[in-house]
Amino acid sequence: MASSSRYFCDVCNLKLISDKAMEEHLKGKKHQKVEEVTKMRQNQAEKSIFVGNLVKSMSEIEITDYFMKVGSVEKVIMDKEKHQYAIVEFESKELVQQALASKKHTIGGRKVNVKQREWKPYSKPKPPHKHPSAKSTPRGNADDAVIESIAAVDSVAEQMHGLLARLQLSPEDVSLRYLICRLLQSVFQEFMPHVSIAPYGSSVNSYGVKGCDLDLNLTIDSRSLMYQFSTPLAEDETLEKIDKTNLKEFNEGQMLDLTEDGDSATMEMICKIIRQLVPGMKNVRGIPLARKPVVKFCHSQSGLMCDISINNRLALRNTELVSFYGKLHPVVRPLVFTIRQWAKVKQIAGNVGAGPKLTNYALTLLIITYLQMEEVKVLPSVDELEAANENGEQIIDGWNCSFSLDVDVLKSVPKKQSIENLLIGFYKFYAMVDFSSNVICPRKGQIVPVHIFQKEASGLTNEFKFGSLNVQDPLELSHNVAGNVNEKTTKRLSGEIKVAQVVCQSKKFSKHDSEKRSWGLMLLLKEGAGGPLRTDVVGCLEVAFHDCSFSEGFRKKWEGNSDGAHNDWSHQMVAFFKMVLHDVLKFDCHVVSPLQKENTTLESSDSKDKHHSMEEMDINRSRAALKRDLEDDSPLPTKKIKIDKEIDNEVDCEKGWRDSETSFTSDPGCSSEVSSISPDGNDNHAADMDVQSTTSSAISLPGEHLLTCSCKVKFPVWIGRRKLRRILMKLPEFKSNILALESAVTSKVIKEQDLMGDVKFTSGSMGVQLHLRKVLENGDCRLMLQMVPVTEEAECKSFFHFFENFFSKLLSNHVFQ
Ligand code: UTP
Repeated sequence: MASSSRYFCDVCNLKLISDKAMEEHLKGKKHQKVEEVTKMRQNQAEKSIFVGNLVKSMSEIEITDYFMKVGSVEKVIMDKEKHQYAIVEFESKELVQQALASKKHTIGGRKVNVKQREWKPYSKPKPPHKHPSAKSTPRGNADDAVIESIAAVDSVAEQMHGLLARLQLSPEDVSLRYLICRLLQSVFQEFMPHVSIAPYGSSVNSYGVKGCDLDLNLTIDSRSLMYQFSTPLAEDETLEKIDKTNLKEFNEGQMLDLTEDGDSATMEMICKIIRQLVPGMKNVRGIPLARKPVVKFCHSQSGLMCDISINNRLALRNTELVSFYGKLHPVVRPLVFTIRQWAKVKQIAGNVGAGPKLTNYALTLLIITYLQMEEVKVLPSVDELEAANENGEQIIDGWNCSFSLDVDVLKSVPKKQSIENLLIGFYKFYAMVDFSSNVICPRKGQIVPVHIFQKEASGLTNEFKFGSLNVQDPLELSHNVAGNVNEKTTKRLSGEIKVAQVVCQSKKFSKHDSEKRSWGLMLLLKEGAGGPLRTDVVGCLEVAFHDCSFSEGFRKKWEGNSDGAHNDWSHQMVAFFKMVLHDVLKFDCHVVSPLQKENTTLESSDSKDKHHSMEEMDINRSRAALKRDLEDDSPLPTKKIKIDKEIDNEVDCEKGWRDSETSFTSDPGCSSEVSSISPDGNDNHAADMDVQSTTSSAISLPGEHLLTCSCKVKFPVWIGRRKLRRILMKLPEFKSNILALESAVTSKVIKEQDLMGDVKFTSGSMGVQLHLRKVLENGDCRLMLQMVPVTEEAECKSFFHFFENFFSKLLSNHVFQ
């Protein structure tokens, strides 16, 4: 466990100075906790398998469903980024051997690879003289370990500090950056003795997360900077690796001309120097057409991505500025780390290359401006820093970059604010801002309406690229740093801010309730907080009037009056649809529709929790509002339900189910003992439905909107039905009543899943919106049912695939009266 000769605890990855210190350390709480976690992880790994060769469309539920054939599955963790693999944890180690015994595994028709999960110690001593791998520390990923670590503390403030401690650059990471920088500088100085290569951006601005890119600038100005790598001197052996023989290839004529910043010849020259002279670099390429041209490359050993720009002095200076803000007040860094992480999880910031998301720089300026606002006043504006400057003017590329970097000369004293309140305040503040009609100005520390900005800065406005989000660079005043952000991303940003505002104000957020698995930052950072929003539709069903069965009475009543028949049918269809959700699948629902004129509350018979907390309703409503904003007119996948009136016997009914359920059900011999987790421990109801109070939430489809409901499902009631149905259908009371049978099956499924607790939605629940519309065309009438995912798309799809068969099966047995 620990090698006392070197005083190194390899459980905690910690060097100690003496035998005594080692002894104390081993007795300490921290070591014991780490040891306990390590053992727990090892035990988990031994009960787990690695499942590879997956595709995006496969859901956790589908995988759980498949491996339940082997035995009880405790947990399935999916690779959330690429959806290529999953870790399946069984109830016991023996089940791993049983799973491995079978050579071939096919899920949903796709062959998957299964092997024993590898066990890596919780924290491992790094081999000496090797650089930490940037690949091994995914860029700022709030992985499970980070989430776990922030769950164990007592307040949101501690969570924020904990997040910062977990994500920030490690000394090894900083050291590696320093070495690369020195190595490049040594090479380039062979050509120009006065050239300097300096880092900027997140590697040095104090907001960098493990594995973040290394931004470098090549400049002939060797002025010392106000920030630096916080690391000891590099081991110069790295510099000795430069192959100077290659230098002969570069003659005088190829010397760098830095007057032409970033022209293609200069870029080409830089690429050539790096390729041929700098050891250990790969994928070297120039991007001459970028707003600020760069040469990109990768440090092979660590995987660290590097960019070199040329004479980008403004970036060096703005790095000094944002770095200084981080030093001015202790709340700034944890706040920036938290909000950057939230934005990353919600996929609204952290652009790689030119994309429509906010750059981290733009997001940081958004946070700084909020902290500068009169009401908050934790930070001074750049204008105030300029007023306090005593060091003479500094103009860069024509822009006034003079400002004080001296904490002591500042006149305004920062207001005392708790970090938790500042976080909540950030969301509250920006929830009120209409991004397209305002400019966020960190120079002034204000949000300025566009028309006033235009008037006040008339000289700039020709150049300033107004967009859906406007954030003025604090130094290069004509630059909108959010000019790349498109309307859709701005909508997402503003919607996610509103959702976060409601989340932050819920009791669950501030109060550490040990029975709840999610509280505080976990609600914001885990996808479970609501998950990334989906704008796509998972499916659309169509039911045609002429495919349905009608009683003699119905036909007689509406003979010759097709309008009346269609209206009556659609009324009955709405009732039927609600009955399937409420009575058969046990969803709790609140529905408002034009057909009903008033709110109706339907509550599941299996529901213990008859009412949602107002908070949860608020959060759901916020998310729903956001979804409404995001809904677009993208083409929808539509499936027509063909009601097969012939299929009403038990065998065919089972076949239908087989089709509708995942590959698990295609094996008649399988044992379908499925159980599911109960996310909150004791909540026994299957699903909740939330109200969409207006018809505007319906996606733009033809026809008349009949109904919209938003469902949050806690148990995947479509898993494991087949086995239970087989048992129940033998009981006389269910022989000729398919609705009663399916309703009883649902109740049983819920009970089993609640009891066993091991089938789990990625985010603790599944949310879908269901829209029902009536379309009249050429005298025919159809109903369209559209399903929009709110949480994990693959899981919603799994529900959709089940529902399309399930609904059609029940409908084929229904006679409209
Ligand atoms: P990033 O947006 O990459 O910010 O811009 P970051 O803080 O380095 O975060 P990572 O790298 O995503 O983790 C890098 C730097 O580029 C300059 C700023 O100096 C910023 O710190 N920059 C970026 C600008 O000057 N203007 C811009 O519009 C964007």
